[in-house]
Amino acid sequence: MNQIAAGEVIDRPASIVKELVENSLDAGATHIEIHIEEGGLNLIEVRDNGSGIHYDDLPLAVSAHATSKLQHTYDLFNIHSFGFRGEALASIGAVARLRLTSTTADAPHGGILVVENGAVQTHQPIAHPQGTLIAVDRLFHTIPARKKFLKSARSEWAKIVDVLTALMLAHNEVAFTLRHNQQCIYQLPVQEHLSTQRLATLVSHSFAQAVLPVAVAREEWQLSGFIASPRYTRASADQQWLFVNGRPIKDRQLSFSIKLAYDDLLHGQRHPAFVLFLTLDPTKVDVNVHPAKTEVRFADGRALSDALRYAIRETLAQQATLLNDAHVMQPSHTMQHQTASRIEPTNPTTQWRVKEDKADWSAQVQAELSWQSKAVHLENVPISVASTQVMSEEVVEDEQYLGQARAQIQGVYIVAENRQGLVLVDMHAAHERVVYERLKRQWSELSQTSQPLLVPLIVPLSVHQQALMESLMVQLAELGFIIDWLGESSCVVRAVPALLVKADLSDLLFKLLDSIDQGGSADHFIARQQDILLSSMACHGSVRANRQLTLAEMNALLRQMEQTPNSGQCNHGRPTWIQMTMTELDKLFLRGQ
Ligand SMILES: Nc1ncnc2c1ncn2[C@@H]1O[C@H](COP(=O)(O)OP(=O)(O)OP(=O)(O)O)[C@@H](O)[C@H]1O
Ligand SMILES: [Mg+2]
Repeated sequence: MNQIAAGEVIDRPASIVKELVENSLDAGATHIEIHIEEGGLNLIEVRDNGSGIHYDDLPLAVSAHATSKLQHTYDLFNIHSFGFRGEALASIGAVARLRLTSTTADAPHGGILVVENGAVQTHQPIAHPQGTLIAVDRLFHTIPARKKFLKSARSEWAKIVDVLTALMLAHNEVAFTLRHNQQCIYQLPVQEHLSTQRLATLVSHSFAQAVLPVAVAREEWQLSGFIASPRYTRASADQQWLFVNGRPIKDRQLSFSIKLAYDDLLHGQRHPAFVLFLTLDPTKVDVNVHPAKTEVRFADGRALSDALRYAIRETLAQQATLLNDAHVMQPSHTMQHQTASRIEPTNPTTQWRVKEDKADWSAQVQAELSWQSKAVHLENVPISVASTQVMSEEVVEDEQYLGQARAQIQGVYIVAENRQGLVLVDMHAAHERVVYERLKRQWSELSQTSQPLLVPLIVPLSVHQQALMESLMVQLAELGFIIDWLGESSCVVRAVPALLVKADLSDLLFKLLDSIDQGGSADHFIARQQDILLSSMACHGSVRANRQLTLAEMNALLRQMEQTPNSGQCNHGRPTWIQMTMTELDKLFLRGQ
């Protein structure tokens, strides 16, 4: 019986490690030492300095459904600890040998209890410092069928590292020591906050150098942690950690909405990287959904994921411009330093002095760079350089982190020089982003307004589509659509959000219904369609490659990029500029080696 229950939770060494370390965290440990032999196939040992277990309670700790963590059944809806079922140790003891040694603060002595295959073998006093040591070996010794499912030591080890990485990311207040086959893998000191140092150790150096801190507080929830700048992307979703009330969880909807926040900043199939902590009222999350507690259910999942998406979008937009990316690339900068080096956007005209003799170029540059879209009747989409003035010597250097243009190469790249060294800018990609962000800002108000169609559009719908449409009517009206039913099986579109007036509307409606059918949200879909339109407008409206620019024009573009959110990527997610530091250049020429 025990073995059946055990099958749910204890399927491999990594799940044992997870249960043991979570117990140590629940016991308030500030130092946890983990020692693994052969990917856990030979030995798993977890030692902590937590509260310990009283000698008399040792048998209780390993018996099924005994937990010290929930006093009442209603506690189940208000869970603050990792453990609550009182099942983990019993399940481990049922399929392996478990040696439990522990001492509480006030006890005259500690105790050791040994369980093997569900039977208590030893229970006797022993001297042991305060805290608990649990050793697990002989895993699945008597269950060959289960043992067969274990992988090689190497791949079991990889799974253990995955599990521990999440726990170590979430618990900076705890010192961890991890040893594998006697070799020290990690030694992490206690820290007040999750530091970039811990991120570098546990995730990667390049991730730690590319992170943007997130701190968003709403009435119902708080989001903190780090997201990688869109410059740092992954081929798979392997560097994504989401913690809900400290618990690492997998939630497809939330992960998906975080990815959506990067929408037009990521290239193709790339994935963002993040370590995010969501805190909310425990009564609003059900953690008792999955035996391994890796899934949770939210009271209002849809609203939460929409809100998260906006929050991350906001962080990306704010920080991508403000953060001097050149600084992020310096490995020596700590997070604190990066925060300090982030600069508030200032109006360049207030700081820069125009040199009189150059004043006449700005009109010319403006004429050349500004773009009018006749197709959409925009009144002079302002790619104005009026606010972008000639540099004076007194310029605050950090604000012009893209430096000074020096030359143009083959009509494609701008070569510039900044404090760190060389900057190369893809002219077209950069301008496209500048235009796009500006269009987007302009349209953000207009997109909410509704524009009547000259000829109303009749759209026949299948029974399934009718049901979907019915459920969307109110929301679509809020977004600027006026849609009525026409008979039983068709609807008639009378007005749409202004920006969509030129789109292929019936195609758009069908795609919208499809996306709703697959669990998408209407406002996101519409926003995305608008982004696509804007992005194609921006692409056509931006400077083409092979156009000669004057130095002044190049500088004007650099200054606009510095003022534009997300200007590090074009709308297709490609980088718009790269930095090569003096050190990197020196390396190329083997200088100083
Ligand atoms: N490292 C530890 N330090 C102190 N007490 C512990 C430790 N590990 C286990 N215990 C005690 O043993 C009990 C049983 O642990 P077990 O992991 O089986 O159950 P749980 O943590 O209560 O619930 P769950 O099955 O959800 O993990 C705990 O409730 C706790 O009282
Ligand atoms: Mg437990």
